[in-house]
Amino acid sequence: MSVPHGLRRIVLIGFSATGKSVLAPLIAHRLGWDSVDLDEEIERAAGRSIPEIFQSEGERGFRAREQQAVQEAVARDQVVIATGGGAWLHAENRALLAEQGFVITLEARSGTIEARYAAAAEDSAEQRPMLSGAGRRRRIETLKAARQPFYALSDLTVHTDDHVDDAVDVIVEAVQRRGGAVLDSENRLREMRNGPGVDPPPIHDYGPDVGCIVETESAQYPVYCAWGLLERSGDVLDRLGLTGRVFMIVDEAVFDTHGSTALESLEQAGRTVNSYRVPSGEASKSLASLELLYEWLSSHRAERRDVIFALGGGMITDLGGMAAATYLRGMPLVHAPTTVLGMVDAAIGGKVAIDLPSGKNLVGAFYQPRAVLADAATLATLPPRELRSGFAEVIKHGFIRDEPMLDLLEETADSLLDPSAGSLDSSRRQLLVDVITRNQAIKASVVSADERESDIRAILNYGHTLGHAIEAVTGYSTVLHGEAVAMGMVAVAEMGCAMGLIDEALVARHRRLIERFGLPTKSPPGLGRAEIVEAMSRDKKVVGGKQRWILLESVGNPIVRDDVPAEVVSDAIDAVVGVS
Ligand SMILES: NC(=O)c1ccc[n+]([C@@H]2O[C@H](COP(=O)([O-])OP(=O)(O)OC[C@H]3O[C@@H](n4cnc5c(N)ncnc54)[C@H](O)[C@@H]3O)[C@@H](O)[C@H]2O)c1
Ligand SMILES: [Zn+2]
Repeated sequence: MSVPHGLRRIVLIGFSATGKSVLAPLIAHRLGWDSVDLDEEIERAAGRSIPEIFQSEGERGFRAREQQAVQEAVARDQVVIATGGGAWLHAENRALLAEQGFVITLEARSGTIEARYAAAAEDSAEQRPMLSGAGRRRRIETLKAARQPFYALSDLTVHTDDHVDDAVDVIVEAVQRRGGAVLDSENRLREMRNGPGVDPPPIHDYGPDVGCIVETESAQYPVYCAWGLLERSGDVLDRLGLTGRVFMIVDEAVFDTHGSTALESLEQAGRTVNSYRVPSGEASKSLASLELLYEWLSSHRAERRDVIFALGGGMITDLGGMAAATYLRGMPLVHAPTTVLGMVDAAIGGKVAIDLPSGKNLVGAFYQPRAVLADAATLATLPPRELRSGFAEVIKHGFIRDEPMLDLLEETADSLLDPSAGSLDSSRRQLLVDVITRNQAIKASVVSADERESDIRAILNYGHTLGHAIEAVTGYSTVLHGEAVAMGMVAVAEMGCAMGLIDEALVARHRRLIERFGLPTKSPPGLGRAEIVEAMSRDKKVVGGKQRWILLESVGNPIVRDDVPAEVVSDAIDAVVGVS
């Protein structure tokens, strides 16, 4: 019996290690056809292994290569195509592969897959970083379950746990007997192309404790948050495929406590770690510090395959990020933020910068990290005022994106502000982890939608227009960033109310929540409206001389307005600085 006319291809899909590459040539042989292995084609075209492609071009780069390989494979006639485990997850690929192709899912039990990995690892130096190491079985199961709805779209499913020959028989017979009818069946192609109505899981198995994934035009990376995560730094870097030496840039104040935790874990994982302690404080975010970092990296002959591990608050995130963005024109970067502000804000989104004497963040870049590792346990040592200040960004996220979180924050403020007590009680630890994760997801979703702050990302500046001016006027010393933002939020709430957008009750809610977190709603004495107005006019975000304000129409609905009357602005400033 021959293959039905019109059936030009057989496509094997399924999880890795289900036997696609093994079966494709066997089936082709039986039919007198050719076979093609997409992963091999991709490697051949790139002149590099797939892990190397991921390392240098990221998942996005790999995906583009994969799509190219699919296009070339489907242009061939009478061919059996073995796909990589992720190819079928993407609609464009499915549409190409399913047209004139009989699609077969190869299935195997998790235990079988794990055993095949173990055997492959023994005779191959190049392991699959995402599916190796401890906890492998669980990760296989999770990833496999997430892909199941996609694999279920095929024309036939064949188990490959046992006899390979049997699988070949079953497939050849099914193709000959039913191939024609299957291809003619109504809706098949449409359903395959549309997919199962859920987002495809990321190709990578990033392992446990990933709260969200940032996906911008230039990169995709996981944001981890857990209690005690630094103790697993080595494991996380392994999983990310970051195998080089580790250059740890660490805030002096966190080196003894948290630095040594990360260091031990990395060394246990067999890593060579060099560390550089940066003096605490904003003054270190300077060109002079950056130069010292460059010299340090160069004296250790850091290479592009090594990794910069930035451990500290937003100062370190920005400074270490600048070093990573520029040294050797870019080194892999991992952020390990140790302040609330760093975790929910500075480490996510890829902005890195240093200050100049003439202004903050004047020299910078967009440079995305490979991952963010937020260990909530580090917050136990954070000075209480810094902790409270970081929650201003959390409150901001609630007002611009997450109304239910505002209620949660009101209820749980006392617990959230006491992470050292929380370390005694797992439910309080979990609360802190959950709140941080939730805020990381908000920041991630905004920057994923708008990497370079053209539009949507501007909403993150809620409360910041006035906040920045207050910081500038007070010389970035007496008022912390979050404290300034807290006052700035009160002011824009007052403005929104004066403009008829929101009611008094929502203004009161701003004040109540800000006070709950021990943050100021009024500035320290001595500040004048005139100097604040003047500082605002110097803000780099002023467009065409017009001040843009982020206001709320309601909780979760921010809007940008550049038509706020001067008197309304003055009144709002007076409401927080108290001087007219
Ligand atoms: N890139 C961005 O998108 C972005 C966003 C917001 C803020 N920032 C930048 O972040 C910086 C502010 O960050 P920050 O508020 O985290 O300040 P920070 O990094 O200066 O840390 C604040 C203080 O806390 C100490 N500290 C940090 N972690 C600690 C811990 N776990 N235990 C004990 N002490 C600890 C530090 O030594 C410092 O004294 C600013 O430079 C700001 O410009 C950047
Ligand atoms: Zn901020």
